[in-house]
Amino acid sequence: MNYLKRATLGGGAATLVLAGGLYAAIAHEGASGIVKERMDAMEKMGGAMKQIGLMMKGITPYDGAAVSQAAMVINQTSARLEKLFPSGGDEKGSYTKPELWDNWDEFKLLTKATGEAAGKLSEAAFDGTKREVLPLFFEVGKSCKACHTKYRRAKDNE
Ligand code: HEC
Repeated sequence: MNYLKRATLGGGAATLVLAGGLYAAIAHEGASGIVKERMDAMEKMGGAMKQIGLMMKGITPYDGAAVSQAAMVINQTSARLEKLFPSGGDEKGSYTKPELWDNWDEFKLLTKATGEAAGKLSEAAFDGTKREVLPLFFEVGKSCKACHTKYRRAKDNE
């Protein structure tokens, strides 16, 4: 009986992991080419933010050099964003609002704002304390959100 129970629980965990993978696949269903490349770039920045966030929350130990490096990834990735949103491309599977291309100058400014905020964070984290670095981390987060609020549609399952 115990054995059976354990086996069932194990199976449950495996199902959850599988469902997680499936969710990711569904979330990107139909996305290929530039849209997929764009999502990958965004996820790279999301991963960097998560890594820094865990340190800021004290879940992982604060490591200034690691924060600096992760912020540099965001800085460099944000510099590629313009190229990842070509106008008139195939937007299948994308969550970008079409009005983005009517407001290209603003989009460029929003992109630049993320790059600058991440650059500042990267520099400060090099020898700054967690307390000094935290407000700069928030600024990066705000800059991501500023663009998402305007130009990104919520995913159906969000
Ligand atoms: C200038 C606008 C802009 C900025 C700045 C921006 N994003 Fe995005 N982001 C978007 C748009 C638009 C999408 C939707 C892309 C699509 O589906 O075509 C998106 C999608 C995403 C996604 C979902 C990707 C996926 O797999 O579907 C993540 C994660 C993300 N962004 C993280 C970030 C983070 C973290 C930052 C800041 C460090 C950031 N973004 C900055 C516009 C922006």
